[in-house]
Amino acid sequence: MRIGVLTGGGDCPGLNAVIRAVVRKGSEVYGHEFVGFRDGWKGPLEGITLELGVPQVRGILPRGGTILGSSRTNPLKVEGGVEKIQTNLKRVGVDALIAIGGEDTLGVATQLAALGINVVGVPKTIDNDLGATDYTFGFDTAVQIAVDAIDRLHTTAESHHRALIVEVMGRHAGWIALHSGLAGGANVILIPERPFDIDAVCAYVKQRFARQFAPIIVVAEGAQPAEGSLALQEAELDAFGHVRLGGIGYVLEREIQARTGFESRQTVLGHVQRGGTPTAYDRVLATRFGLHAIDAVHEGDSGVMVALRGTDIVRVQLSEATKELKTVPLERYAEAEVFFG
Ligand code: F6P
Repeated sequence: MRIGVLTGGGDCPGLNAVIRAVVRKGSEVYGHEFVGFRDGWKGPLEGITLELGVPQVRGILPRGGTILGSSRTNPLKVEGGVEKIQTNLKRVGVDALIAIGGEDTLGVATQLAALGINVVGVPKTIDNDLGATDYTFGFDTAVQIAVDAIDRLHTTAESHHRALIVEVMGRHAGWIALHSGLAGGANVILIPERPFDIDAVCAYVKQRFARQFAPIIVVAEGAQPAEGSLALQEAELDAFGHVRLGGIGYVLEREIQARTGFESRQTVLGHVQRGGTPTAYDRVLATRFGLHAIDAVHEGDSGVMVALRGTDIVRVQLSEATKELKTVPLERYAEAEVFFG
């Protein structure tokens, strides 16, 4: 078989580990050939390929990013996009595709599978918000990067008696904020699933200073103030219709300082959370996903995604995978609230 591989959407640590596992097992155990598609769905859409074999995947296990490149190209928004993909796959002689991506990339894969294209999905996102899998690789690395930053911010916050706000990624899910806030000993964690009351946040800040400590506030980029309490700016949309988030850290810095009188500073971790070498956990999860994805393709399965359930890797329908966003349950957030203030 000749198998195409692509990585789409925001990159995340562990993508190369998947590619390596797919190619190593696919070539060495099953004798398949591979072709890389460059920059997500843009590759098959425009017929842009890369050589992909065992030599190309040597040494990439610990490397962040993706050797295939990525983009947020949505072929379903391009006139005749699906037909172009079908033509290019035929031209390149691809029998099946492995699409490694999040909600958007796998959403496209779902539609292509329904049209008869052989596709197997691999879930990735630092946001950990895909409903069908317990965890996605990239999340553990992003959380570790945020925790390292929070550990450092504690000491400078104490020295200057400042409130430090750390804005983390996660889009509409608060997983990175919750896990990094818990692991980093944050004094307030704000997530999109639970609109916040700015007065309550300020009360926690004052309480923390009253105890002779300086507060760390971890805020997810998608966190929202409770209705009517604070006005936020409108954000722009990407090709999949997602708002480009960011800026809530600045709003909190300004409001906390104005309302409590304590000096405040924000740190936006941004794309640092997506860069660099994956943690051991993410390397193992990504590798296992890759091994199971190539098994699925080899067995002629299509329209499925590999997923983690407990400690097992299972196959789920692609349509199932993208149906629901996995957000933080409020009872999980309540566990963290014990440490606020
Ligand atoms: O989905 C991953 C993610 O990093 C989100 O946490 C974030 O909102 C978004 O991607 C940022 O996207 P971009 O890299 O396109 O700015």
